[in-house]
Amino acid sequence: MIPPGDVLIGQREIASRIVDLARDLAGELRRDLAEEGASLDTPGRVVMIPVLSGSIIFFADLVRRLPVALATELVSVSSYRGATTESLGASLEGALPGNLAGKHVVIVDDILDSGRTLGLLRGRIGELGPASLRICVLLRKERPRDVPVEADLVGFDIPDVFVVGYGLDYDGHYRNLPDVRLLEGAGG
Ligand code: XMP
Repeated sequence: MIPPGDVLIGQREIASRIVDLARDLAGELRRDLAEEGASLDTPGRVVMIPVLSGSIIFFADLVRRLPVALATELVSVSSYRGATTESLGASLEGALPGNLAGKHVVIVDDILDSGRTLGLLRGRIGELGPASLRICVLLRKERPRDVPVEADLVGFDIPDVFVVGYGLDYDGHYRNLPDVRLLEGAGG
């Protein structure tokens, strides 16, 4: 088992950035909803979708900062990673939520890395006809994407290093660390 290394982003920095992200996301949703004569309090217009399992802690902190009447749906994507740090592909596990047509949808993930996971989800969810579709990630790695996909809201840009903690795991470990840490010695 590779031990976690230095803290890359501390828990206070994460908490403070999430306040900004929630404010920015609420502002964007408020504008979209105003165009259709609705508001952030209008039920049934916004659906937030965490990508299991890496985004669970980020998602829990983000939605509690959002003054928005929102519904939650879950999606799960397997990324063929296991005890390696290299992304080899992504495939959807189970069905997509069936009620996204005409809704303002926000996909929330821990990290934009190769782009395979979010490229797949943006394509598949986009086909369901949402009124708007956004991607919000805590981390975005500075590297070329294998699948071209942009995130609309980004917590932090980080170098191309493998990280763990705050929901991110290495082979199932370290999700509960409160900071984002480097995983030193992890081969890509
Ligand atoms: P991509 O963008 O490569 O990312 O499809 C797929 C999923 O892989 C996980 N991932 C990581 N997990 N440290 C982790 O602990 C990392 O540096 C890392 N990069 C990618 C993550 O769950 C992402 O959603």
